[in-house]
Amino acid sequence: MTLPDFPDGWYQSADVEAEMLGFGADNFCGQFTKKGDTIIVLYIYSLYPGKGNTQRFLQGLVDMGWTVVVVKPNEVMMHICRKLGFTKYEECVEGYYSDCPVVVCKH
Ligand SMILES: CC(C)(COP(=O)(O)OP(=O)(O)OC[C@H]1O[C@@H](n2cnc3c(N)ncnc32)[C@H](O)[C@@H]1OP(=O)(O)O)[C@@H](O)C(=O)NCCC(=O)NCCS
Repeated sequence: MTLPDFPDGWYQSADVEAEMLGFGADNFCGQFTKKGDTIIVLYIYSLYPGKGNTQRFLQGLVDMGWTVVVVKPNEVMMHICRKLGFTKYEECVEGYYSDCPVVVCKH
């Protein structure tokens, strides 16, 4: 599968790249980084919680073929990640968290 081609870096939900990945500002506030074939979700705030938007966003990334990392998942995110088949790891997320390694969910 061919992934959308855009530069590695830091993005937020207001960016067109976020919209392209299903993380648009109409439903979310948050940030992610792209590093090669990996999308690292650094922070996610759902504007309409409980409507399945976060599950659709993460499943959409997986379906597109990205490796997906969710950093420091809280209880609700952990529920979502487990449901979608993510696995819990400890990993270093360079440049963002000094208390390395941190808990992440990865798919
Ligand atoms: C975490 C967050 C992004 C989830 O977004 P969302 O769009 O509401 O997620 P969805 O609607 O796709 O799914 C919510 C799921 O969590 C479940 N849930 C809700 N409250 C829960 C709780 N306290 N504990 C466990 N699961 C919970 C819902 O039942 C649903 O699961 P289900 O479909 O199996 O019933 C949202 O709650 C949020 O914005 N929280 C505030 C910001 C935040 O804490 N972000 C950091 C996350 S690491």
